[in-house]
Amino acid sequence: MEGYKQKPAFLQGGKPVLLQGAMELEIAQLRGALTGCRSFQYGTFLFWEGKLGDQPVVLSRTGIGAAAAAAATAVGCAVFQPSLVLNQGTAGGYPEDLHPFDLVVGERWFNANALFQSRYGKDYYLDLEALEGESKESGFTGERPFYHRCSEAAVRWLDQMTGKYTQGQVLLGTIASADRWNDCPDTIRQLETATGALCEEMETAAAGETAARFGVPFGAVRVISNNNRTGEPFNPETARAVQEWIVGIVKKEEREW
Ligand code: 5AD
Repeated sequence: MEGYKQKPAFLQGGKPVLLQGAMELEIAQLRGALTGCRSFQYGTFLFWEGKLGDQPVVLSRTGIGAAAAAAATAVGCAVFQPSLVLNQGTAGGYPEDLHPFDLVVGERWFNANALFQSRYGKDYYLDLEALEGESKESGFTGERPFYHRCSEAAVRWLDQMTGKYTQGQVLLGTIASADRWNDCPDTIRQLETATGALCEEMETAAAGETAARFGVPFGAVRVISNNNRTGEPFNPETARAVQEWIVGIVKKEEREW
């Protein structure tokens, strides 16, 4: 991809970047790096406003799963008016050659919760957006998932910064998102073949859809924490690796561009 000659627009203009993580272990390093940190609470949703270098940031602990992530994103967008929502955290790898500490920069995501079972018992993917305005079955169902692109500027920025990630390989690709944890190697192999996804997690689709409803650019990056196809168990240290990388790339000073 073509490089930036200057900072992307969402890192200029004084608006905060909304950085999200579901669990405490997925936000602790980011919070530790914030300067001038003030906390906010809405229900059980926690936010910390501060800076990484010169860049205003709001950090959000969303909680796990689609409902929590959507609600946290709605509150975050309405209250803090961010220039970008960047959802990050851990994920389970799909290909056999993706291992803990490898990174997936999300080019696109799909909602793997959204399924339609036909009267003959066959499962189809469901396009929830189309369903809002369409009543014909063929208009909102498909054999393939309904993919949603992450903001092109966010993908380009993250892709350009991957050289700074030293703890594993980095791939650009598709993130499968659902309130579901797959532990069966055969299922994971089938899902990879059917969808082309590189990894699965539980928040990207909800955060991405909600950011879109607020007209806010959206990016997603996941560190592989486990690969249930190859039997590599969840390694919590992976969450630290992706956060350290994000701190570095958000902090990057003007003169470095
Ligand atoms: N499947 C689903 N979610 C996963 N997560 C990490 N690995 C997986 C996996 N294999 C993430 C989810 C959620 C938490 C359980 O960890 O995004 O926040």
